[in-house]
This record gives sequence, C-alpha cells and structure tokens, in this order.
Amino acid sequence: MNLPGSQPARQQPTSGVAAAAAGSAAAAPAGSPEAAQATEQVGGQSGGRSLDPHLRRYAQRAAGMRASEVRALFAVASRPEVVSLAGGMPNLAALPLDTLATDVAELVATEGQSVLQYGSAHGLPALREQICDVMALEGISAHADDVVVTVGSQMALDMVTRVFCDPGDVVLAEAPSYVGALSTFSAYQAEVVHVTMDDEGLQPEALRQALDTLAGQGRRVKFLYTIPNFHNPGGVTLAVRRRAEILDICARHGVLVIEDNPYGLLGFSDQTYPALRSMEADNVVYLGSFSKTFASGLRVGWALAPHAVREKLVLATESATLCPPAFNQAIVSRYLARYDWQGQIKQFRAAYRERRDAMLAALDQHLPPGCSWTKPDGGFYVWLTVPEGLDTKAMLPRAVTQRVAYVPGTAFYAAGFGSRQMRLSYCYPTPERIREGVRRLASALEAEQELLHTFGARSAGGGRPEVAGGQSPSPDTA
Ligand SMILES: Cc1ncc(COP(=O)(O)O)c(C=O)c1O
Repeated sequence: MNLPGSQPARQQPTSGVAAAAAGSAAAAPAGSPEAAQATEQVGGQSGGRSLDPHLRRYAQRAAGMRASEVRALFAVASRPEVVSLAGGMPNLAALPLDTLATDVAELVATEGQSVLQYGSAHGLPALREQICDVMALEGISAHADDVVVTVGSQMALDMVTRVFCDPGDVVLAEAPSYVGALSTFSAYQAEVVHVTMDDEGLQPEALRQALDTLAGQGRRVKFLYTIPNFHNPGGVTLAVRRRAEILDICARHGVLVIEDNPYGLLGFSDQTYPALRSMEADNVVYLGSFSKTFASGLRVGWALAPHAVREKLVLATESATLCPPAFNQAIVSRYLARYDWQGQIKQFRAAYRERRDAMLAALDQHLPPGCSWTKPDGGFYVWLTVPEGLDTKAMLPRAVTQRVAYVPGTAFYAAGFGSRQMRLSYCYPTPERIREGVRRLASALEAEQELLHTFGARSAGGGRPEVAGGQSPSPDTA
C-alpha cells in the first residue's frame, strides 16, 4: 500500500535513454565513461534475452545496480551542438588555475614524500580541522575527531548505507531525491520510501504519517536521507522553522538523520541556514563536500558523525579504499589555508545567480501554459512540471533532436513517479546557452503537445503518469 505522498521502492525503472547510450558505443572512445556505459547497457537485458554471460554469477545486490539516467545521457548530451541542461557539473571557470598550478607544483616539490604516500583512513588531521571551520559557517560546532574524510560525499553516502542498512531495511528520502543516493540505497538493497516535499522542503506531517504507517507495518526504518538546502533536484530549501520538528519526529521514532549538504554555501542572497547537525549532534550524520565550492575533480568530501558512528565509518573507509587520496586532501588543505576561499565562494554564487536568473527569465518567456517550476534561491537546479498528458522520458529523444538535454523526473524516484517532471540545471552553460536551451526545450514541448492533441497521450515504454490523480509528490510551486 502506498503511503500518502510517498511510495515504497519497487524495481528501478530502466533508463529511457539506454538505447541512445548503447547506440553510441561505437562512437565513444574506448575506455571512456561513455564507452563503459554503452558496454554496460549492451551487456544488460536485451529484448528479454541477456547478452551478459556472467548474469547468473552476480550477487543479488548487483541486480539493483543500474545505469542512472544522468550517466546514460552523457554520451548524447556532451555533444557540442546540444545545450545540456542535464548534468550538475560545477562551473570551474572562476577558479584561479594559474596560481593553483604553481601551488600544486610547490606541494609536490616540498612535501611530495608525505603527500604522495598512503595516509590514514580517517583523513588528514589538518584538513579535518579546517573542515570544522567550514561547517562553523552553518552553525556547526564539531571536533575534528568526528570528521571522516571521504572520496566525495558520494563515498560518504555509500559508507553510511553500508554501515546501517541490511537488505530490506527502509530508507526515507524526499520525493524527489538525489539520483546518486537512490542508486547507493538500491545497491545495498534498501527500500526507499519517498516523503512529500512542498516549496518549503520536506513536510513534517508527511514524515510523521510515513513513520507511523511503517511502524504499524513492522518495517525497520534506518534513516531519513535529506538534502535541506537548495535541493537536488527539487531546487527548494527546508524552512528553518520545520527543522527542529523534523529532528524531533526522527528522534521519537528512533530514526537517524543523514543530512546531505553539498550546496549549503551557495545561497544567492548570501544566506546560510542552520544545519540540522547544528541543532542535534547525536542523531545526525552530516555530509559535506568540496565539489561545489572548490573542485569536484579532487573528489574530497566528508562525513561528520556521532562519535561511535565515526569509528565504523573509518573502518568502512579502510576496507573500501584504505585511505582517501592524501595528495588531493593536501591540495584542498593548502587552498583553504592560502586562498580567500570564502571570497571564491562569493564569486561562484554570483556566477550561479546570473545563470539562475537567465533560466527563470527564459522559462517565463518561452514555456507554454500549463508548465510550472520551482524558483531556487541557491544551488544548481530547477524542477519543472509539464502539462498533463506529456511524458518527459518519452519526449527526451525529441528534445535531443532539437539539441537540448535534461534529466527526466523518473530518475529521481525509486519507482513510479516523475513522468511529468524534469530536472533542469543552470550551473554549467553560459546564460546565453541557457536561454537558447530553454527556447529549444519550449519548442520540443510545443511539438509534443501538438502530437498529444492529434493522437492522444503516448507512453514511454509503459509509463503514463503512474500516480493516482496524475499528481507527483513534488515541489510543484511556481
Ligand atoms: C545532493 C548531492 N549529494 C551528493 C553529491 C555527490 O557529491 P560529491 O562530488 O561530493 O561526491 C551530489 C553531487 O551532485 C549531490 O547533488
């Protein structure tokens, strides 16, 4: 039975762009992520017949490992003629690359013997101290001992799920939620139950109802996974007045909170919100990252955990990767020590704000009636709802033909929702490209509507709106 505004996970929907990725296998350079992706797709199920000779050998958990719609899109969306509003790549143009290059060379020359060596699974002590200073901006008072450095916050998500979830355990997540988290939960065979959001983020009442219902069913809920600030993909922020209530509900039900906050310092009004972790230290694992505020390619993130959990995360890191890369940690540590990193974040904010403005203005100007979208005050993403009868996964090939790409909403749910939604990101393209991309998207939508009026609704391999009433539980606020 579905919970109000939420849905237990069934099978992950297969990517509607899988065929496009597989079709481009020949064009992708060998060894490239696109080629690996395409091979993976070709090696999967094909018309009910598997081409993968290893299929019967895989562990059960491998069945939940599927290519995300974001990855499958890369091959097509990275062509230069396509305006990609799909990926969430940070814009690194504002970074002082020349000075960084000199600094990195000096690091190798002066500290190469240690920074090119193995390090501790816990992370570089100096960096862990500096991470505490970064988190202090959001009101967190933490000890460096409780910080565990990870290979991006994606790895922290994996470690937390590994430490807490057995197959069949329930994880609560916003509806919609971050695609990388959903694929991690799926890989550990946890079941995702989505909880409704509105324009003020997660709804406490929906959370309470979900937990009561699950308790009544005797289900084991391990944690609430939440992205309170500048949500990916929703573009909304959890109202400050809801925060204590959500913590309280989780504490009463004995449910841990995983607070994922990679965008928290990217507020367009220079605002920061109090982290959930700043209000409750014992029941929150906070995940942070330098991917959006410095450089995603360095893959440096962290978890701040209650003391006992911290030890488990260190052990999990040790078995996964021995230690996070000492060199990359040293680069980040130097950067924080020697650069005006807060000034740099201000520059990032200004650049993203300009792009957000360009996208919102273009959506207003070009999109047909019946569309609505969120209006983010930070971060990278707009969540768009299209008129009834349209299916964003089904219309993606048309959009790509018109040289614009987005991520269909279904990617952001464990199963069953999002066919009328899509995520648009404004972080990477220039304002001019964003305007052009939205213009192309509008013409794809109009063509799709014409088709709908002529022939009636069409389906994306079995997917008209799956939710009763055709209404997805999403922050549909415009
Ligand atoms: C909400 C969220 N969490 C985690 C991540 C992973 O970030 P990282 O680069 O630190 O692994 C992302 C990346 O886009 C994200 O949007």
